[in-house]
Amino acid sequence: MAAEKHFKYVILGGGVAAGYAAREFAKQGVKPGELAIISKEAVCSLTFSTTYMAEFHFSCSMFDAAMQAWMYEIFAANRHLVAPYERPALSKGYLFPQNAARLPGFHVCVGSGGERQLPEWYAEKGIELILSTEIVKADLAAKTLTSAAGATFTYQILLIATGATVIKLTDFGTQGADSNNILYLREIDDADKLVAAIQAKKGGKAVVIGGGYIGLELSAALRLNDYDVTMVFPEPWCMPRLFTAEIAAFYEAYYANKGVQIVKGTIAVGFDADANGDVKAVKLKDGRVLEADIVVVGVGARPLTTLFKGQVAEEKGGIKTDAFFETSVPGVYAVGDVATFPMKMYNELRRVEHVDHSRKSAEQAVKAIISKESGESVPEYEYLPFFYSRSFDLGWQFYGDNVGEAILFGDSDPTSAKPKFGSYWIKDGKVLGAFLEGGSPDENKAIAKVAKTQPPVANVEELKKEGLQFASKI
Ligand code: FDA
Ligand code: NAD
Repeated sequence: MAAEKHFKYVILGGGVAAGYAAREFAKQGVKPGELAIISKEAVCSLTFSTTYMAEFHFSCSMFDAAMQAWMYEIFAANRHLVAPYERPALSKGYLFPQNAARLPGFHVCVGSGGERQLPEWYAEKGIELILSTEIVKADLAAKTLTSAAGATFTYQILLIATGATVIKLTDFGTQGADSNNILYLREIDDADKLVAAIQAKKGGKAVVIGGGYIGLELSAALRLNDYDVTMVFPEPWCMPRLFTAEIAAFYEAYYANKGVQIVKGTIAVGFDADANGDVKAVKLKDGRVLEADIVVVGVGARPLTTLFKGQVAEEKGGIKTDAFFETSVPGVYAVGDVATFPMKMYNELRRVEHVDHSRKSAEQAVKAIISKESGESVPEYEYLPFFYSRSFDLGWQFYGDNVGEAILFGDSDPTSAKPKFGSYWIKDGKVLGAFLEGGSPDENKAIAKVAKTQPPVANVEELKKEGLQFASKI
């Protein structure tokens, strides 16, 4: 008979939200054996950096043969333990040609300046990490989850933290999209495949499909790895869901100066492969053909709600929650990328695919769960949207809402030694959103305050002239 296990609390998913939820459960005094994290992530062949490995071999050499064998056995068992980690590292430090980030260096909660939760942390707290376990069936009425291997897990409270998955070109039936070396990036095993391909095709040609976050961050990473990079996307400018044409013009020119070629206004309609099935060329809708040794695709993500279809209310593609992240099913919560929640500031239900919200929503849900048990309550979730990205020597932050009229300020010359510029979005006479490239921590705090307090604007021309100074005065 297949195994059955019961926990008071189960977190389904082992990503960013899961790690921050576990920390909050620990803060709230969860007892050993009460909480489990179930995650399909587990296999990571590049877990340890070369430096770490050298140190490990050196340490082993100081013991006798039996002890060495035991140490290597423990090492081999542990290298596959992918406890929750800070996913943003995968498209940045993980792909660096030198001194690349590797686990255990970026387990949660280092991304927000917190303690690094190694697998031992969960063991010490009595939190069971059930890794390499994909849940294939969820019965919310029976409070039961079933894994691909047939194990069942029952719970009192469920926290859905399944995140999102990549949209693939094979989903659209794009010809040849299943060729080798057409790569995506979501989880650590995707990143390992990418690193292996980058090393195998060193100095080759890369085509990056998509002009969003993955497109921009991966084009930079591939360029740093000496690839000849071409980015292709359908819109008139990159990152259209956030950037204005003026902001995008800076990044496109900066990237062009770094050697990235940009092809706009078209999509990939097919791929040519060689006799081994390795991709060789990308065929574009406008008739152009681009040679490629590697193709990286970043055409968006889809929230992982399938397991719960028909059992829970959905909205805007995600699982609908209240301001405490409880879903339409009592005792079932949803956090992170998968949740569509009331964004109080804008009086609207929204879904957010960014790390800051995944951390904060997880903490809010756990606080709400625990306080409900003692008949108390927590304040409603008050969230100020915060997005950021880093590539090459650049780094930007955005707070608030990008609606209304946008004005650009500062030095947005892509050839400047240290460009620093920003944008404010003004609606109904108030600043609702603020973007800053190249800001210091204090300057970033200042623009966050602008987006939070929504100061009135009497004269848009004055605001443009004042630029960052306007934020410093708030
Ligand atoms: P997340 O995707 O982190 O975790 C979901 C977990 O659930 C995974 O472990 C998955 O395997 C597991 N799972 C799903 N279905 C399952 C099932 N059926 N059974 C078992 N387990 C299952 N944001 C930002 O603000 N700044 C940034 O720089 C970046 N950078 C970045 C880089 C890359 C490469 C990606 C892919 C994403 C980012 N993001 C980002 C976005 C950010 O990482 C994202 O919003 C959070 O990881 C969302 O956290 P969640 O926990 O909701 O999902
Ligand atoms: P995205 O939504 O940011 O960008 C998707 C882009 O795909 C669009 O801008 C468009 O240019 C392009 N596109 C759509 N259909 C296309 C097609 N058929 N051919 C070519 N291009 C097409 O999604 P993403 O960049 O794939 O990112 C995936 C997820 O990872 C998102 O949730 C994102 O928020 C997250 N992420 C975030 C960060 C960050 O916040 N810094 C970094 C990396 C990833």
